[in-house]
Amino acid sequence: MKVLTPYDIAAVRADFPLLRTTVNGKPLIYLDNGATTQKPRFVIDAIQQYYTLQNSNIHRGVHHLSQLATDAYEVTRNKLKDFIHAEHGHEIILTAGTTHSINLVSTCFGKAFVKEGDEVIISAMEHHSNIVPWQMMCEERGAKLKVVPIDDDGVLDMDAYARLLNDRVKLVSMTYVSNTLGTINPVQQIIQMAHENGSPVLLDAAQAVQHMAIDVQALDVDFLAFSGHKMYGPTGVGVLYGKEKWLNAMPPYQGGGDMIKDVTFEKTTYNDLPFKFEAGTPNIEAGICLGASIDYINQIGLDHIAEYEAELLHYALEALAEIEGIRFIGKARERSSVISFLIEGTHPYDVGVILDKLGIAVRTGHHCTQPLMDRFGIPGTVRASIAMYNTQEDIDGLVAGVKRAARMLL
Ligand code: ALA
Repeated sequence: MKVLTPYDIAAVRADFPLLRTTVNGKPLIYLDNGATTQKPRFVIDAIQQYYTLQNSNIHRGVHHLSQLATDAYEVTRNKLKDFIHAEHGHEIILTAGTTHSINLVSTCFGKAFVKEGDEVIISAMEHHSNIVPWQMMCEERGAKLKVVPIDDDGVLDMDAYARLLNDRVKLVSMTYVSNTLGTINPVQQIIQMAHENGSPVLLDAAQAVQHMAIDVQALDVDFLAFSGHKMYGPTGVGVLYGKEKWLNAMPPYQGGGDMIKDVTFEKTTYNDLPFKFEAGTPNIEAGICLGASIDYINQIGLDHIAEYEAELLHYALEALAEIEGIRFIGKARERSSVISFLIEGTHPYDVGVILDKLGIAVRTGHHCTQPLMDRFGIPGTVRASIAMYNTQEDIDGLVAGVKRAARMLL
């Protein structure tokens, strides 16, 4: 099978300087995009331009540079609003990343709405960042964490989900796309069922937002979390989208500058959205340059990216299936750009080390989903994760590398 989508992959690759590098004397094959993506020249230039021409603190100064930086930061917020089709810019909270976004909701929503005996639902395929914050909050508030199981293909058990929904469930928090299995969850149905139960939903979109178009209003999702660095943007910035009504009903997360309206030693009044949740000087450079990564994605088009990546994923699954002893972990029909596998008789770590010697970057281990590994009774997997700049040649290199690793290890 050939990847057929008309897509100027050579031009896309040419935009990413790091893809031209060599590792251990071999041309880099970068397939660890689920962990972080490489950055296009456009974003790298924006970072340089920020420090060369704009560097200043935001929301604080009347001077020219501060105004420039503030405007640029708020332009990103507006781009993010359009990117996920939010109704209001003030529903976009800039955070340090997905983990920060989820912790913000677990803490603040917990304080406002969760009491002893209440329940929160997550799934068996969650990343630790969508498990531990809820565990901590439930422990603190005497609530219970309920887990929707998955089947052997890594597909959510929707009947079990329906059975878990009851009037004690205060919130449902699920991943949109599993970082380990690649499963795309039926988020529309998850949200609809939760809403019929009167429970809001948070979606962890860290592995979704760079691969498929998301419309928070069409989904009617209550909270959405994602990270800049997985969408070709800078590290240290991410997004929490929240419906205005929930964000207004939650207390602030951290106290400090910018989140206040008025402070006396007796009492503080809090700022309006979004600033109520943005205490202290943020990662200004990353916030501004996340706007550049959105421009870059928009210029290529998420529809084109999704189509190309789907064909490449299909090609990769067929090619890898030819390898003797391969066992895929995650076989959902609805899936995105992640492939996890094991080679019978080998340890994922050893395969990863040999692939590295061949210049191939994959992630090995539990992928911050230890309970999921326990569910499959395995210590970890080898995970190849695809981005818009990967090619058929990358996949061919991976297949050859895995075969070589298997020959060396068995
Ligand atoms: N959450 C990232 C991953 O899946 C780091 O690799």
